[in-house]
Amino acid sequence: MRFFIDTANVEEIRQANELGVICGVTTNPSLIVKEGRDFVEVIKEIASIVDGPISAEVISLEHEGMVKEAEKLCKIHENIVIKIPMTEEGLKAVNILSKKGIKTNVTLIFSAAQALLAARAGATYVSPFVGRLDDIGKDGIELIAEITEIFDVNAIETEIIVASVRNPIHALQAARIGAHIATVPYKVIKQMMLHPLTDKGIETFMKDWEGSELKL
Ligand code: E4P
Repeated sequence: MRFFIDTANVEEIRQANELGVICGVTTNPSLIVKEGRDFVEVIKEIASIVDGPISAEVISLEHEGMVKEAEKLCKIHENIVIKIPMTEEGLKAVNILSKKGIKTNVTLIFSAAQALLAARAGATYVSPFVGRLDDIGKDGIELIAEITEIFDVNAIETEIIVASVRNPIHALQAARIGAHIATVPYKVIKQMMLHPLTDKGIETFMKDWEGSELKL
């Protein structure tokens, strides 16, 4: 399983990119608004940092508008992937865009039926949201297992991006199932790096070293 970072904050993206653990970025309208900067400028800057798929989401709710916005966003950089909401209009837009060779990421997926339809409409990626399902008392990771099985059995090439990842356990469970990608906030990447025994071990090594006469 590969990692994308789920943020529109260029500083976080820069820091995660330096770790060498991410190979793509996902944004959404809420994340863009949080930055308080021009949409196109933010996407352009992200594309200059990460050499991989960058999801930028359309705002229109009808398919003609989605296609128009997609064509504009695509011109920003060759790595732009158009994020489209999982609606009837969204599927129409995905169908048109896939025929034009434009990559899409169908977002706000909460059922395997939605994922299957999005894949058949020609989506490059589908984004099932685990955290938001957990929030309403459903098992988000169970949905990932179901979609993974359906895509495997049917030899579907659309990749699964596990989204709405809230903690390291979500990421590990997704990896265990064999999801293709997890898009994770920077906070979760940092949580994944940490272990109290690592810190304690470093502290002990340093104390022992400083108490000795040895030099490197
Ligand atoms: C994915 O592409 C979305 O941007 C994101 O994962 C949503 O996460 P949230 O449910 O924590 O807002």
